[in-house]
Amino acid sequence: MDEDFIPVKKSQISLFKNFPLFYFSKENEPLLYKKEGELLKEARIKDKQFPDLFIRTSDRENASHALYKTMNAHLEETVFSHGLVPIRQALHALVQEALEGPLNVSGKMLPETIDILFQGYSQNKILVESLAKLSSTSDKLVEHTVNILSLTMQFCTFHHFTQAKAKVLGVSAILHDIGCIQLPPELHNTKTQLSDTQFKEFQTHTTKGYHTIIASGCFTPEIATVALAHHERRDGSGYPNGRTDIPEDAQLIGLINSYEPLAYRGTSRHEDPQKPFDSLQILKNEVIEGKFSRQLFVNFCSCLI
Ligand SMILES: [Fe+2]
Ligand SMILES: [Fe+2]
Repeated sequence: MDEDFIPVKKSQISLFKNFPLFYFSKENEPLLYKKEGELLKEARIKDKQFPDLFIRTSDRENASHALYKTMNAHLEETVFSHGLVPIRQALHALVQEALEGPLNVSGKMLPETIDILFQGYSQNKILVESLAKLSSTSDKLVEHTVNILSLTMQFCTFHHFTQAKAKVLGVSAILHDIGCIQLPPELHNTKTQLSDTQFKEFQTHTTKGYHTIIASGCFTPEIATVALAHHERRDGSGYPNGRTDIPEDAQLIGLINSYEPLAYRGTSRHEDPQKPFDSLQILKNEVIEGKFSRQLFVNFCSCLI
C-alpha cells in the first residue's frame, strides 16, 4: 500500500464530504473515487456500497479536525436529546479518533468533548446511572476507554468537581491506555492470562503512552503522568516503576481502571462480569492490601450508589 494514503472507516464515510476519497485499482494504483465537496449517495452509505476508501495522508490533520467538529456537535445533540445507545456510539467514535488520530488535533478538540459530557452528566441522571453499563464487545480497547471515561465523569459530577478539573480527568481517562495502540492487539484484546513475556511487553503501554503524550506537546504533563502511573499501586506492587507516591489523578484513574473490567467485561481471574457489589468487594480486598487509598475507594463507591 502506498504510504501516502490512510484508510477511512466505513462507518465514518459520510463525515468526509470536504475531502477527496480514493480507492486502489487491482494494480494498486490510487484512483479518485469522489471529489472534494461531493457527498456519497445516502443509500450507498447505508448499504456500504463502496470499495475500501482512503484519504491522502496530507489531509489527515484537517480531516481529523473536521471529524471532531462533527462528532462533538453530534455528541452535544445526542447528550441532550437522545437515548443512551446513540450517546455511546458518539463516544465510541470520538474515543477511537482520540486513540488513533493525530494528537495535536485531539489536544485542541478533546477539551470541548469533555465540556459537553460534563454538561450532560450534570443534567442527565440516566447518563450518570447507565452509560458505562452499555458496553458492547466490538473493540475492547475503545469500549474499555469509553467505560473509564463514563465512570470518571460520574465521579467528577457526583463529587462536584469543577469543569476545569473534570476536563483534565476526562482527557486523562481517554488517553490513559493510548500506549496500547503501539502493542500487538492480542496483548490488550484478550481475557486469557498473558505469558510472563507478554505481560512484560504489555506493561510498556504505560511508558509508551507517557512518551507519546509528552512528545505531542498538546497536553499538560499531569495527563501524561496518568498514562504512566495508572498501574502503580501505593504498596509499591504496581508498574512500571513500583512507585508508592502516586499522583491523585493517576490513583483515581487506576482505581476505575481496576473496577471497569471486573464489573463490565470479566478478567482472566473472574471470567464473567461481576455484580457491582462483588466487584467492589474484590477491590476492597486490594484496598486492605494497601494498593489503593481507603478514602478514594469510599469516594468511588459513593458515586456508584
Ligand atoms: Fe492500562
Ligand atoms: Fe486501562
